[in-house]
Parts: sequence; C-alpha cells; structure tokens
Amino acid sequence: MNTTTSYEIDLVKANTSKINSVDFENLTFGRVFTDHMFVCDFKDGRWQKPQIMPYQAMTFEPSARVFHYGQAVFEGMKAYKDDNGKVFLFRPEQNFERINKSAARMAIPEFPKEYFFKGLETLLNLDTEWIKPGLDNSLYLRPFVIATEPAISASPAEEYRFMIICSPAKAYYNEPVRVLFAEKFSRSADGGVGFAKAAGNYGAQFYPTSLAQKKGFQQIIWTDASTHDYLEEAGTMNIFFRIGDTLITAPNNDRILDGVTRKSVIQLAKDLNIDCEVRRVSVKEIKDAAMDGSLKEIFGAGTAAVISPVSAFEHAGDVFEIPVTNDSYATLFKSTLLNIQHNLADDKHGWRYEVK
Ligand code: COI
Repeated sequence: MNTTTSYEIDLVKANTSKINSVDFENLTFGRVFTDHMFVCDFKDGRWQKPQIMPYQAMTFEPSARVFHYGQAVFEGMKAYKDDNGKVFLFRPEQNFERINKSAARMAIPEFPKEYFFKGLETLLNLDTEWIKPGLDNSLYLRPFVIATEPAISASPAEEYRFMIICSPAKAYYNEPVRVLFAEKFSRSADGGVGFAKAAGNYGAQFYPTSLAQKKGFQQIIWTDASTHDYLEEAGTMNIFFRIGDTLITAPNNDRILDGVTRKSVIQLAKDLNIDCEVRRVSVKEIKDAAMDGSLKEIFGAGTAAVISPVSAFEHAGDVFEIPVTNDSYATLFKSTLLNIQHNLADDKHGWRYEVK
C-alpha cells in the first residue's frame, strides 16, 4: 500500500523558547518538554504530510478510539550530545522496527521509515539546545501513535496520529530499586501483547505496582502468567541476574519486551568475556542463590532506566537484601553503554547514529 505522499515536513517554529525557565539540574523524568513536536496524521488510507510545530495541547473528540480501546503504541529513545556538540541516537533503527511491530500487533498502520528518521533529525536540530552534554544528561524521545478516529465501535480505527515529543532527562531511578516478584498479578500472557510497546501493557501495571509501593517496593518483577515460577521482566526495564560471575536473563518471547538496552548488554557481555545465559530463570533459583550467597546482583536494563541496580527483592513474604559488590557488572555495563552513547568510546558495533 502506498501510505505516503511526499517526505517533506511542514515546519512552524515556536516564537519563543521555554528553555530558560528549565532547571536542567533538577529534572523529574518526563515532566518538561522541548519547544517543538512532530505530528503526522493517517487518514484516507495514507500517512499525510508531517508537520513540526510548537509543543502544544491538542484536541480530540471524546469518541476518539484511543480513549475507549487503548489502541496506542509508543517507543522510548534518547539523544546524546558529546563535548563537541555532536548529537547521537543509539540504535534508532531498532526503535523504528519495534514501533512498527507493536503497531502491527495493535492493528495500527505501519509508519514510513523516511518520516521517522527525518522527523527525528529535524526535531533534534531545532531543539538541539535542549540536549545537554555530560554522561548523566540525555534528551528522552517519545514517538507514539494513537487512534484518533471519532467512532466507538470496537474495531480498528481508520485515522491515527503519529507524534514525537522530547523531554530532557537525568536518571529515571535515583536510587537502587527494591522489587517484588509477582505472585498473583500478571503483565502479559502467551499470544498477548507483552512483547509490544502497547500503552495498555504499562497502564495495567500501575495498580499492582502501587500495591507494591505501599509495601516499600518500587517495581514488580513480572513472572510467567501460568505458573508465576519464572522471572520475566520489570515492566519499565528488562532484568538481569548475576549468580557467581554468570549473567542470566530471560529469553525473548511474546510476553517480554525485546529491549534495545537488553540486547546491547548481552552483546557487551560477549565483548567483555562475561558469561551470559539467555534462558528461563526461576524464582526458586534466585531465592536459593540469595540464600547461599551466590546471588551477586540483579539489575534492570532499559532506555529510560539505562542500567538500574536492584538492592532487594521480596517473594512470598521473604525479603532478601542484595549486598553491594565492588566488581559490579551493573556499574561496568552502565559506564560502557554511556561512553558509547556519548561518543567517548569505540563503537565497534556501529550503534551510534550521528544526527546531522
Ligand atoms: C523506556 O525505557 O523508554 C520505556 O519506555 C520505559 C518507560 C515506561 C519509562
């Protein structure tokens, strides 16, 4: 299907910038947005001419299908600036491929590659002052698609809006996180949408996560829906376990997000001669390892969270504190990744994408 007309973008610049009102040293994740946003509508069976315009509120009819059926998918990416002012993305083709896989699963039309990259690059050039150099700074990019058609019959929409908004970011988690292993609630099931970045995957976690938070745990490590015996992912990040000197992470399947940071960590482990097993990992194995002292680390890996250490976990009323190790893999992977992303280290896999 020819889904596009041409690859030009209509551009309306903001008259003034909000940048001077932003305290870049004290950012809460996802609260502040840059001056511009990218917008592209799908109607009459094709993606229309995209626009970049000042970041602003939008109006939709109350009957827009996204409000009723959650037909929405998104991505998480980051832009980084080196000390010479060059701007980079990290493996952006992975995000492009994934948003279209997510879209296909949610019966949303695929978005054209040229628009995705041209939209990102134009936006990043316009809002480049919002990308601060330094290893703890990045600009978080949120491409997303929503079903905008005003119609409430339960079927796929015929109209959509694809957008990209940008938010300057520091750490997602300021401290190591305490997690609870899921025993009752589930995030995803076989044949479901767990592998996709479908909005509802995230919304459905909020209630169980708020219960966990009341008990002093910031996140849930989701387990397989049928037995709750196997550890899968943390919802905002994929999860790695270190027993002795071996790293273990669950294999991808249709319940687990195919994380870009996850696959990068697996590759970096290979590069660093760290043994990394991609296989099912059981709750029992991790509890046994915590009891016999061989569980050295648990950490999450994700775009927003980068690499986030886990300091404790709870399961069936048993709480295990994970002692801090001085040869932490989490610290090693975090600095290796950040150095590649910020153009401070050799990029032997070609993961950096310079925004020209
Ligand atoms: C990301 O890491 O980009 C994510 O999408 C997680 C998010 C829910 C903050």
